[in-house]
Amino acid sequence: MAFNMVAGHAKWPKVNDAIFGLAAKAKEAIDKYGKENVIDSTLGALVDDKGDLICLNTVYQELKSMPDAAIAAYAQVAGQPDFLETVPNICFGKYRPDAHIRAVATPGGTGSVRHSIYNYTEPGDSILISDWFWSPYITISEEYGRKATTFELFNSKNEFNMESFKEKFEELLNKQKRLVTILNTPANNPTGYSLSDEEWDEVLNLAKENAKDPENRIIIVVDCAYIDYAGIGDERRKFFAKFSGLPKNILIIAAFSMSKGYTMYGMRSGAAICISSDEEIAEEFYYSCLHSNRANWSNGTRAAMEIMTRIAKDPEKTKAYEAEVKEAKMMLRKRADAFVKGAKEAGLEILPYRDGFFVSIPCKDAKKASDELIKENLFVVALKKGLRFAVCAVSEEKCKTAPAIIKKVLDRIE
Ligand SMILES: Cc1ncc(COP(=O)(O)O)c(C=O)c1O
Repeated sequence: MAFNMVAGHAKWPKVNDAIFGLAAKAKEAIDKYGKENVIDSTLGALVDDKGDLICLNTVYQELKSMPDAAIAAYAQVAGQPDFLETVPNICFGKYRPDAHIRAVATPGGTGSVRHSIYNYTEPGDSILISDWFWSPYITISEEYGRKATTFELFNSKNEFNMESFKEKFEELLNKQKRLVTILNTPANNPTGYSLSDEEWDEVLNLAKENAKDPENRIIIVVDCAYIDYAGIGDERRKFFAKFSGLPKNILIIAAFSMSKGYTMYGMRSGAAICISSDEEIAEEFYYSCLHSNRANWSNGTRAAMEIMTRIAKDPEKTKAYEAEVKEAKMMLRKRADAFVKGAKEAGLEILPYRDGFFVSIPCKDAKKASDELIKENLFVVALKKGLRFAVCAVSEEKCKTAPAIIKKVLDRIE
């Protein structure tokens, strides 16, 4: 028997991050065969057509103009006060709900997801997520002795599967009397799906119906990491206004991230933003997350917070920043359109794409498909139920041609 030093709860299988591993293989192929002959659709970061990471000028100019001490200093545990004031405005835009809103800075959206799962479930509880999911939801749940149950994201008409959501939602809530469900929308990772405003109404009606039992506690986490790359204008933020005047036992937590919208992936900044009709519950949220911040990472990245507030305070900078994000969003849309069109022409089945960094292709043996595609110099992430193609990382030209290659390989192996 192996001798373990690590405590039982902290012993995990020896697996490295699959996505980063595949990205390293793609890099090897690029070195061997040349950039033009490899399609690397592995990482979830915006890359230009030359394969270089996009870093917004407005963001990095601001960073470089900061005095060293402003970058080096500790931030407050909850986050800098002006950041906490600004972040809900940035997240909700014109659609700020009429509610008690409190924010706490976290290192990326991940920190916010962590606080939501840990602080709003009991040990052994299950959270509810869709069957196409971002895998850290599971990793975080496991880390804290929680489980995850999935509902089917799509019905047979490829629409949001309200029936499946309702079934699992009520099953878990009846059992646990509290439920954390994470909806990664708009611009879902990995599918690119965004709930429509009507679908949000259905979700909220279900929550309100179940909130009639005062013993039920319903927590809806809106993981909006990709919101800046959704919709044409502001329409994908409209749903936030629906969170006004909810019953006291429905709490909304927006998991806000600066990773994508500010291209600050490694600078680790974001926020957990609560929306509640009840002041006490909002206050409780704030102090619960404050404690969690101190216990886990003490405080966040001060320079990242300051970049947001400096840009937000200056109308000229805001305009320049928004123009840059818009340009990146348009580039992404063109690539996704090219992929969707290419898929149609090749007869490749894909999940309904609305917005964002990724498109998903359902298939039976995703791991095998991904391995076979490596032989074609196409690197695509294998998920449980299919393949994830990162349009954020691939030029429009290659987005056009990739679907036919994937179709050919799937036909060969399925
Ligand atoms: C679905 C989803 N949620 C949240 C995040 C949060 O990322 P970060 O912690 O970098 O903000 C990501 C990033 O990849 C994501 O894909």
